[in-house]
Amino acid sequence: MAFKSALLIAASLAIVRAQSVPATADAAALALVDQQYVNSGLATNPNTGFGVPLKSVALLSVEYPFGIVQNGQPYTVDQVATAPTVYITPSNASASTSFTATNDYTLILADASSLGDPDTRGNYRHYLANYDTGIAATGANLTFTPNSGNVVTPYTAPGPIAGTGPHRYAWLLFAQPSTFAAPSDLAAPGTAAGVWNVSTYVQQSGLGDLLAASFFTVQNGNPTGSVAVTQAATSTSAAASGSSKAASSGASKSGSASSGAASASASTKAFSGASSVVVKSVGTLAIIAGGVAALLF
Ligand SMILES: *[C@@H]1O[C@H](CO)[C@@H](O)[C@H](O)[C@H]1NC(C)=O
Ligand SMILES: *[C@@H]1O[C@H](CO)[C@@H](O)[C@H](O)[C@H]1NC(C)=O
Ligand SMILES: *[C@@H]1O[C@H](CO)[C@@H](O)[C@H](O)[C@H]1NC(C)=O
Repeated sequence: MAFKSALLIAASLAIVRAQSVPATADAAALALVDQQYVNSGLATNPNTGFGVPLKSVALLSVEYPFGIVQNGQPYTVDQVATAPTVYITPSNASASTSFTATNDYTLILADASSLGDPDTRGNYRHYLANYDTGIAATGANLTFTPNSGNVVTPYTAPGPIAGTGPHRYAWLLFAQPSTFAAPSDLAAPGTAAGVWNVSTYVQQSGLGDLLAASFFTVQNGNPTGSVAVTQAATSTSAAASGSSKAASSGASKSGSASSGAASASASTKAFSGASSVVVKSVGTLAIIAGGVAALLF
């Protein structure tokens, strides 16, 4: 039981740390985000995810009025109605220098629809800014705020169609090499939000690696089909996933937060986290209990 208590305390500390904009980012924190991104189905092809792998070199902190986005967590349309402030915390001072020097970056908010109810038209663009540089923080704090160079698509708040399940929205920060060339239809400031595919845009424009990401879900009404929820992972559960035993089976539910009906879904590998933050429903609690059991036995 002492072991279990230590796990819970470690998980609590991880949550406290995650809720403020970090001053530095360590390798474990970056690996955790990569794991969460994969487990949310975002790495796969355009009909289920973005088809672009994430290899985090920085943490992306997205701050809305309610606080900082926790990866994989559900938020309401109201909570994400206004454009957030975005912070980037590189893993070390040399990476920080590259962020704040002459290098350019592209920042995107895209919708990958819900797991189990993919949009066959592709992803949806909610924000697109090219030529972002950075405004550095001071002292030992490596965090910087992106300074938007050319906002092609201004922030268009998530507003998923009712009944289509928990849509997965992701803020994506890409390296933008000097060879980058915006497609002619996505170059002018004020271009409306719309259907696109992130992977196609990356290839056509010559964007570089996906360097950092922050992702969450927003749902409007109950889904009409079988959709899956994504779960947050904590550093405790990510460390345990080294054995691959602690990764829980996928969880899908009716979408009503109160139904708690959980069943396995082959199309998703939701990741259970021993996190008090995700205790939102009976169903989630059961998943957490499963995660703790997996860690203990
Ligand atoms: C680091 O800088 C960011 C952005 O200015 C700020 O929000 C955050 O609180 C700072 N962190 C620390 C520990 O000073
Ligand atoms: C700094 O971070 C970058 C990106 O993660 C990495 O490639 C580089 O090796 C790191 N440098 C040092 C000195 O740790
Ligand atoms: C996005 O990709 C999917 C799968 O390849 C494709 O069916 C769809 O037409 C694409 N959408 C756009 C807008 O290119």
